Amino acid sequence: MLYEWVKYLHIASAIGFVAVHGASIVVLYAARRERDRKRILAMLDASGRTAIAMYVMLGGIVGTGLWLGALRHLWLEKRWFWLALIVLAATTGLMLAVAKPFTARIRAACEMRPTGVPRKSDEELAEILGSGRVHVITLIGVVSLLLLLYLMMFRPDLGAASTRPPISATTTSSPTTTVGSSTPTLAGASTTVAGSTSTTVADGAEAALLALGQEVFDVTAGGLGCAFCHGYRGEGTSFGPRIAGESKEDIADALRWVSDMTEITLTAEELDGVARYVAQLAR
Ligand code: HEC
Repeated sequence: MLYEWVKYLHIASAIGFVAVHGASIVVLYAARRERDRKRILAMLDASGRTAIAMYVMLGGIVGTGLWLGALRHLWLEKRWFWLALIVLAATTGLMLAVAKPFTARIRAACEMRPTGVPRKSDEELAEILGSGRVHVITLIGVVSLLLLLYLMMFRPDLGAASTRPPISATTTSSPTTTVGSSTPTLAGASTTVAGSTSTTVADGAEAALLALGQEVFDVTAGGLGCAFCHGYRGEGTSFGPRIAGESKEDIADALRWVSDMTEITLTAEELDGVARYVAQLAR
C-alpha cells in the first residue's frame, strides 16, 4: 500500500513538472513572434516565476523515485533505474547549459540603455528569438521525457544477466529435479532449511498452512517455487531480491506487479500459507 501511494506521488510530481515547465517552452515559442521588448520581458518574467514550482516538482520526482527504488530493492539490481537517474541529471545539466543562457541572451537583447535606445538592434533581437535554439531545447525536453517514460514503463533488462528459465504454465507440476540440478547452491541451501522450519511449527491448522506455504515456496509456485528466484531462506538470488519477512500485502502486490511473477497463480489458501512461510523466514 505504501508503495502505491509513493508511486501515486511520483506520477503526480511528473505530471506537475510537465504542466509547470511546459509553460516555459510555450513562452519561448510565443516570443518568436513578438517584437515589443516590454512584452517579451513580461513573458520571460512569467515563465521565470514558475521556476520554484518547477524545482519543487523535480525534487518530488527524484525523492519519490529514490523511495520507490528502495521499496523495490531497485538500487542495486536494476540498471534501468540508474539510467533513468542519469538521464534526468543529464537533462537538467543540458537545460542549464543550453536553455538558461539562451533566455539570458534574450533578456540582454531587450534591455534599454539609459538614453532609451535598446542595447541590441531589432534585427539582432529578431535573430536571437528566431534562432534554432528553441527547437534544440524542445527536442532535449521531449526526448528525455519519452526516454524516461520508456524506462519507467518497460523496465528494460539492459544486458543484466538473465538466464532464468521461463515459468512453466502450471503450478501443479514440480520440477524439483531441474531446480536442484541447475542451481547447486540452492539445492545445498534446501537441506539446511528442511530441518529448521519443522521446529517453528505451531498448532494443527497453522502447521498445515505453513506446510502448504513451504510446498508453494520451495516447489510449486509457477512450477519453480519462489525459492528458485528468492532463495530457500528468502535471502535473494541473482534472479530475485531478498523477501524474507515481507508481508502478505507485498507478496500479493509482487504477484500482480513483477513481470517475472505474474504467471504464478495461487489460490487464496496458498497465498495465505506462503505469506506465513515468508513471514517466519525472517526470524
Ligand atoms: C521467476 C522468478 C521469481 C519467482 C518464481 C518468484 N519471484 Fe518474487 N520476484 C522476482 C523478481 C525478479 C522480483 C523483483 C522485481 C523487481 O523489483 O523488479 C521479485 C519480487 C518479489 C517481491 C517484492 C520484493 C520487494 O520488496 O521488492 C516479493 C514479496 C516476492 N517477489 C515474493 C515472491 C513469492 C512469495 C514467490 C512465490 C509465490 C515469488 N516471489 C516467486 C522473481 C521471482
